[in-house]
Order: sequence, then C-alpha cells, then structure tokens
Amino acid sequence: MSLRVVTGVTVGAGVALGAYVAFNNSAAARKAEKKKRKEKRKIVVLFGPPGAGKGTHAPAIVQKLAIPQLATGDMLRAAVSAGTAVGMAAKAAMDAGALVTDEIVVGIIADRVKETDCGKGFILDGFPRTVKQAKMLDDMLLHDGESVARVIELQVPDAVLTERICGRWVHKASGRSYHVKFNPPKSLQGSPPSVDTMKDDESGESLMQRSDDTAEALVSRLSAYHAQTVPVLTHYGAKKVVQVDANRDMPAVWTDIDAATTFDLMRQ
Ligand code: AP5
Repeated sequence: MSLRVVTGVTVGAGVALGAYVAFNNSAAARKAEKKKRKEKRKIVVLFGPPGAGKGTHAPAIVQKLAIPQLATGDMLRAAVSAGTAVGMAAKAAMDAGALVTDEIVVGIIADRVKETDCGKGFILDGFPRTVKQAKMLDDMLLHDGESVARVIELQVPDAVLTERICGRWVHKASGRSYHVKFNPPKSLQGSPPSVDTMKDDESGESLMQRSDDTAEALVSRLSAYHAQTVPVLTHYGAKKVVQVDANRDMPAVWTDIDAATTFDLMRQ
C-alpha cells in the first residue's frame, strides 16, 4: 500500500522533475550556445607567397583586431635558435626552402592557440601551408565549434618577389620587417645597408637578414608554395578567401586588408 502511494508520488514527481530538468537543460544549452557564439574567436589566415607582405601587414591587423599574430616561420626560427628538438628537426628543411613536416607545425599551433592571449582570436601567418595542415586545423577548431573566419590572400607575381626577399631585413625580437629600398628603417639615411646602418625604428636594435632569404632558396620556397600551399585556397573556397592585389604600394595594400578585416567576424 505505502509502496503504491510512494510509487505514485514518485512517478508524478518524476514526470515533473523530468520536465523541469529538460526545460532547464535546454535553457542552459541555449544560454551556453549563445555565450559561445558571442565569444567565438576571430580566426584570420594571412596567406601568400614568400615576400607577399604577410609579416609587413600583420602588425596593423594585430593592432586593429587586438588579437596576436601566430607566424609559424617565426616560431620555427625561434626553435632553431633555441636548439630545441623541434628546431633541430626543422632546420634543414627551412634552410633548403622546403616545408617542415605537417605534424611539427600543427603541433606548434595546437599548443599556441590554447594560450590566454588567443582568447579573442588569432591571425595565422604562414599556416596552414598544405591541405593536410588545413584539414588538421579545421578538425582542431571544430572540436570547440570554431572555424576559420577569413583567408586573406596577398597576390604578387613571382617575378617581383626576388627583389623583395633579397632586400629584406628583419628585427629578430619583434619580427618587424624592413626593406632596403621599399621600406627602409629611419637609420639607413641613404647609406649602404649593414648591421650598423639597419636598425629597428622602435628599439634601435640591429636588424638581420634571414638565412633562407637568398635567390637560390626562394626558387624552392616558391615551388613549394605553388605545389603544396596554393591548393589550400580551394579547400577554403570563395566564401572565405578574399583576394588582395599586393603588388602595389604598402598603403594601397593595407586599405584592402583593412576592408577585408572589417566585418562581423562573429557571424562565421
Ligand atoms: P615564413 O617565415 O613563413 O616565410 P614565408 O612564407 O616564405 O614568408 P616571408 O616571411 O618570406 O614573407 P612575408 O609575406 O612575411 O613577407 P614580408 O612582409 O616580410 O617561413 C619560412 C620557412 O619556415 C618556410 O620556408 C618553411 O620551411 C617553414 N615553415 C613556416 N611555416 C610552415 C608551415 N606552416 N608548414 C611547413 N613549413 C613551414 O615582405 C617581404 C619584403 O618585401 C620586406 O622587406 C617588405 O618590406 C617588402 N614588402 C612588403 N610589401 C611590399 C610592397 N607592397 N611593396 C614593396 N615591398 C614590400
């Protein structure tokens, strides 16, 4: 007898409790989804051949969107300088102008995007560089309901790139990029370029030339770009890729990049 009453009460309460829990769950799910949509990270890929201007324009995007630039080339060079296992594995490929393995670069990026400064998004510079990297990136982002918002493709004919690459000097600590002719540092003042005359505008420290910035290595880098990297554009498709003619003066190029990064990135 008491069992039946208890059972009846239990069943009635159970139904009510079930409905309450279901309501609460769906409300909580909606709230969580709304929060997630609101907090969706801005994920921008800066794409283009060696010397296209990715490193030149990235700092302005960083400043505009207040998200960091993740340049796999810079990260790999730092690993080479530090003599880490990753650096040792990457060095030979980099010096030859070939690509480092997908597993190494995806591993570096997977760790980096978890850091707190990437909480609002990040700019990928030089990554993904193969369709396999793009698919691994997509899977990684999908895990948190995210995806690449926009791919900005800087287009420059190969013939223009040798002069850009061979005249480039960089500030190692910040990655700031200069050019003896197209973007000289204030310190150059018409003198011949050297470590004494090429100084970073902000820190005053000497600039350096990259070991792979030679006409010979550029041949391999361009060949890797056309064979392995350009297919990434098809992977992302016309909806995500914005083409920018980067064979113009820097302010004109920036105007287009500025427009391409001025949109509601939350609506991906
Ligand atoms: P990475 O460091 O990424 O080099 P990259 O892609 O070859 O690109 P660059 O840094 O050379 O070009 P940029 O577009 O940044 O040019 P910048 O703005 O400086 O990669 C290096 C190596 O690391 C690779 O070869 C590979 O081995 C490895 N690696 C990296 N990522 C990898 C990945 N995901 N997978 C596998 N391997 C990977 O401009 C160049 C010069 O031109 C500057 O002097 C600048 O002042 C000048 N300039 C720029 N814009 C203009 C303009 N509009 N007019 C005139 N001059 C201009």
